[in-house]
Amino acid sequence: MNLPVVEVIELTKRYPPDTTAVDGVSFSIRKGEVFSLLGPNGAGKTTTVEIIEGLRTPTSGSISVLGVDIRNGFDSIRRRVGVLPQNFEPFDLLTPLEAVAYWADLLEVRAGRKDAERLLERVGLESRKKAMSKTLSGGEKRKLGIALSMVNDPELLFLDEPTTGLDPRARRDLWDLIEEVKGRGTTVVLTTHYLEEAEKLADEVAIMHKGKIIAEGAPDELVSRHGKGTSIVLVGAGPEGLSELARRGISAHERDGNVIVPVQDREELRNMFAKLSSIEVSFKEMYTKRETLEDVFLGLIGSRMDEGVLRE
Ligand SMILES: Nc1ncnc2c1ncn2[C@@H]1O[C@H](COP(=O)(O)OP(=O)(O)OP(=O)(O)O)[C@@H](O)[C@H]1O
Ligand SMILES: [Mg+2]
Repeated sequence: MNLPVVEVIELTKRYPPDTTAVDGVSFSIRKGEVFSLLGPNGAGKTTTVEIIEGLRTPTSGSISVLGVDIRNGFDSIRRRVGVLPQNFEPFDLLTPLEAVAYWADLLEVRAGRKDAERLLERVGLESRKKAMSKTLSGGEKRKLGIALSMVNDPELLFLDEPTTGLDPRARRDLWDLIEEVKGRGTTVVLTTHYLEEAEKLADEVAIMHKGKIIAEGAPDELVSRHGKGTSIVLVGAGPEGLSELARRGISAHERDGNVIVPVQDREELRNMFAKLSSIEVSFKEMYTKRETLEDVFLGLIGSRMDEGVLRE
């Protein structure tokens, strides 16, 4: 049987005196998948991953990583795991080349000068490999952190907000790198605030809110389960456009001055396009929009925020 690489059962973490950062969370991560943990600031993502990484202790719950119950310690698996912490800061006085060599030593993996250079080149740090780390820019420090997390070619790689602070090109390069390590069979746990990143890379996503997982599944599944399907957007059609459509029995709603017409399937999409083209509504442009993971995320988090407000 294919055992999960990570199994978390009823994990709870309390920070005294009164914060429950993680509240009875369970999930499992299959070998070779990219598992993405999403959620607003303070949802409990970093706490969860750092407990799984053996860096924080749980209040209760059981966790196994690579088949090992981590209550018995992390030492036996440390070398098989790679970690980029959210708050990664390199050693000021080491160059990236030295930092890679030092980290490889700590993890007792062989990494010669050539390997270190290749790794730094792969993360886009080639031109800064001999600079003192304290002089690296924010994005360059992040790239060094990513390089260090991969120095041991880990079976299980944790990346806590790896693309925060990276420029758009570097972000896409990292997406390629994640796909590449996944292609080698590495399991990746990815925390991010970029929903399009999760939608592109993740096989499975879990959305956390106030310490609980409120939705979980493949990105496609979540979009079809919670999303509102496809819509036609009439840009700038405004309230007049909306009432014109209402007069003709077309159900729609308005957001930011645009009129949005939901459609069920391709057939209805085609018919609706024809209908909208034949009636007198003024708009700047018309396009179709498929609900994205970001729409689902905002919908789920927004509705919970509303509930919270009502309760308070
Ligand atoms: N060491 C700590 N001591 C006390 N409270 C903490 C500690 N670490 C985190 N918290 C609190 O626990 C909650 C969850 O924090 P956590 O860092 O896990 O969130 P997160 O989902 O990673 O957020 P972000 O997206 O901002 O990184 C927050 O309310 C935070 O203030
Ligand atoms: Mg965090």
